[in-house]
Amino acid sequence: MATVECRGIRKLYGALEVMRGFDLKIDDHEFVVFLGPSGCGKSTMLRMIAGLEEISSGDLFIGGERMNDRDPGDRGIAMVFQNYALYPHMSVRENITFGLERAGIGKAAIDQRLAPVVEALGLGVYLARKPTELSGGQQQRVAIARAMIKTPEVFLFDEPLSNLDAKLRGNLRIEIARLHRDLKTTSIYVTHDQLEAMTLADRIVLMKDGKIEQMGTPEEIYQKPATVFAAGFIGTPNMNFLQLKMAQEWIGDNLIKFAAPPGIRQGEVTVGIRPGSFRVSEDAQAFRGTVERNEFHGETRLVSLKNGQHEINISIPAEVRPTIGEVLGVEVASSDIHVFDPATGLRLN
Ligand SMILES: Nc1ncnc2c1ncn2[C@@H]1O[C@H](COP(=O)(O)OP(=O)(O)OP(=O)(O)O)[C@@H](O)[C@H]1O
Ligand SMILES: [Mg+2]
Repeated sequence: MATVECRGIRKLYGALEVMRGFDLKIDDHEFVVFLGPSGCGKSTMLRMIAGLEEISSGDLFIGGERMNDRDPGDRGIAMVFQNYALYPHMSVRENITFGLERAGIGKAAIDQRLAPVVEALGLGVYLARKPTELSGGQQQRVAIARAMIKTPEVFLFDEPLSNLDAKLRGNLRIEIARLHRDLKTTSIYVTHDQLEAMTLADRIVLMKDGKIEQMGTPEEIYQKPATVFAAGFIGTPNMNFLQLKMAQEWIGDNLIKFAAPPGIRQGEVTVGIRPGSFRVSEDAQAFRGTVERNEFHGETRLVSLKNGQHEINISIPAEVRPTIGEVLGVEVASSDIHVFDPATGLRLN
C-alpha cells in the first residue's frame, strides 16, 4: 500500500521559509500533480518526499510509515528528473538495468523485469544503442524505464517533459498516463504547465509561495477556482478579470451589466469570466465593445473588445469573422461568472 501523507511540512533555508506548512493525503494509486509558478516550492516538496532534501519540521508518511529519517533508497520511491542523466558509455539496456545489477539481482530476474518495461515504453529496438544515438524523447523514455524497473511504490516526476518539444511532450504525456493506468503506482508529478496538469491529474495541488492554494480534480478547480490566483492560473486563454460594483441583482457600471450570480453581498468585486463563456449576439446588452484584436486559433478565434476602461477577450467560433473596428455585443450566463473579494482574492459565489 502506498499512500503518501504530509503533515505540516516546512522547509527553511537559513531564515528563508520556502515551504510554509504543507498538508496533503495522497491515496494509493492516485495521480497527483503539484502545479504552480516557478519558485513556489514544487521541487523542494518533491525532493523532501524523495529524501533528497531534509524536512525542517512536520511529518512525512509513506505507506503509513514515518519516513523523515529514512534514506532515499529505503522509501520505496523512484524519481524521474527534468535533466535525466543517462550514462553515455552504457547502452540503453545497461542504463535501464544497472541499478538492479548493482543491487545483486540475477540476469534472469532482470530480463524478466526488463521485458514489460521495454514493451510499455516502446524501447525494444533501441536496447543496444548508446544514448547519443537517441532523440530527446527516446532518452527521456529510457530515464522513465530506469525508474519503472525498480517497481516503486511511489513514482515522483519533476518536470520530466519540459526539455522536449510540444509534440513529443504530448506523446509522452499520453504514455505516462497509460503507464500509470497499467501499473497503478501512486504518482506525484511536478509541472508548471497547466495543460499537463489538467490532462494527467486525478487531483491537482495548486501551490503558491510555499503553500497550497487549492486542491481538487481538474474540473473542480477549473469550474470553481477558490481564488483569483487559481482562476488566473488554470485555463487557456486566460480568464478576464474586471473590477466592478454589485448592486442587488446586477454587477457592473455604466458600460457593463451582468446578472449577478445568487448569494453575494453588495459592494466592490473582482469578476472573472473565461473568454469561452461569452456569446456574441446582435442585441446583446451585457457589454458592447470595439474589436481591437482578432487572432485566428484554428477552431476558434480570440477577439478583444474595448469600451472605455474595459477590455475583454472573447473566444468565439472561427467562422464568426469580425473586422477590426467593428462593434460587437456579448452576453454571458450568470452561472459562468466567478466573483471574488478584491481585498482577499477569495471566491464569493
Ligand atoms: N538550496 C537552496 N537555498 C536557498 N533557497 C533555495 C534553495 N533551493 C531552493 N530555494 C528556494 O526555494 C524556493 C522554491 O524552490 P523550488 O525549486 O522548490 O521551486 P519550484 O516550484 O520547483 O520552481 P520551478 O518551477 O522554477 O522549478 C525558491 O524561492 C528557491 O529560490
Ligand atoms: Mg522545480
